[in-house]
Amino acid sequence: MSEVFVIRGGEELRGSVRVSGAKNSALKLMAASLMTGDECRIVNVPDIGDVRIMAEVLRHLGADVDFRDGEMALRCHELSTLRAPYALVRKMRASIIVLGPLLARYGHAEVALPGGCNIGTRNIDLHLRGLAEMGVELEMSHGYIEARAERLRGSRISLAFPSVGATENLMMAAVGADGTTCIENAAREPEIQDLADFLRGMGAQVHGAGTPVIEIEGGHALHGASHRVIGDRIEAGTLAVAACAAGGEVSIEGVSSGHLQVFLRTLREVGAEVDEGEGGLMVRAHPPYRSCDVATLPHPGFPTDLQPPMVVLLSLAQGISVLTENVFENRFLYVDELKRMGCDIKIEGNHAIIRGVTRLSGAEVCACDLRAGAALVVAGLAAEGETVVGDIHHIDRGYEELEGKLRALGADIHREEAEGISGWREGC
Ligand code: UD1
Repeated sequence: MSEVFVIRGGEELRGSVRVSGAKNSALKLMAASLMTGDECRIVNVPDIGDVRIMAEVLRHLGADVDFRDGEMALRCHELSTLRAPYALVRKMRASIIVLGPLLARYGHAEVALPGGCNIGTRNIDLHLRGLAEMGVELEMSHGYIEARAERLRGSRISLAFPSVGATENLMMAAVGADGTTCIENAAREPEIQDLADFLRGMGAQVHGAGTPVIEIEGGHALHGASHRVIGDRIEAGTLAVAACAAGGEVSIEGVSSGHLQVFLRTLREVGAEVDEGEGGLMVRAHPPYRSCDVATLPHPGFPTDLQPPMVVLLSLAQGISVLTENVFENRFLYVDELKRMGCDIKIEGNHAIIRGVTRLSGAEVCACDLRAGAALVVAGLAAEGETVVGDIHHIDRGYEELEGKLRALGADIHREEAEGISGWREGC
């Protein structure tokens, strides 16, 4: 039975909230543990849908995964298969990240092609091209990528786009390669640095993570490691926007404000007050907000994952804002749901033209993906009356206890079993 969030808008958010560990880091660290037979321990792991799916993928491969109270112990002593099946990969595209670690350790992996999703086609050509340059033979058949390499060779790889997933897959494959690999135009997201720190803790030689050029000296023996996942900057950003949209004053802890600089600059530009502190930030709502033009870009640019919540805030600003999506090709599907709540948004290609409105009105809406779902919750908190957000399994994929955290800040939100509202547009 699917569930919905029922939100009564209009309550201000006040108090302090601690964000969970970063989903986009935890998933990659879990995959990296495939590279050693020793035990790895990861703390500050969020208890979210995607982490549970990654645990399923690893267990399917033969790993022992023990997860409780945010602490995960992983032991990938002897794997029983090197094939990640479609039944699991289709549940979470990020499963493709096991490709690099399996190649590094065994020189062989079979991973189902992930297929598309609700924000774009999400190619993996850059992952595969980079692996081919390292001497991996790739064959596609029956919906699977079969990858083999007797020996991986260190190479110079220049990415056509700083893809997060490709950078991570190639970094991990390179750890098992002979010689040095240099990844140029690498992604610079904080989660890449977190992965590099974990790999270094395992005994790998990785330099330059966080800059556009990453060098990996392959062939060093790996061992178990312990690591604390960085705080989730996207969760922090979502809560910050929620505080601005609903009103109030919220202290957000457990995140490095340095990971959110362009986003925070944008919040200030629209008129919110933001103080940065050690290990967190303080956000004070300060309506009426000003319109602002925003363009998503790879890190350190404005994060595409905060684009949907930002569209909600810009909908409450005075004047016209233009939000340009440069990372994903189809990330405005949720806008039609926001329009049902009174937003005035026109999509032209990769631009959303947002005309500010004075009020939003609660409605029944459905989440079509994770961050779109978060945006609908933010809109619900700011809207007059009741909002029912359907298909919240998308939200549960990436936010740990979102409704509990919001309730602790004073929001009127709870989870209910769905009655008739689920299934975002038949066929999606
Ligand atoms: C990761 C994050 C996701 C975030 C995104 C961009 C995880 C689990 N997910 O996704 O939350 O929104 O980074 O910050 O970490 N592309 C290609 N070819 C490739 C790879 C990517 O064309 O081989 C394109 C994609 O179609 C997309 C863009 O590049 O349009 C960005 O993708 P990428 O940076 O790889 O994102 P993910 O790693 O999938």
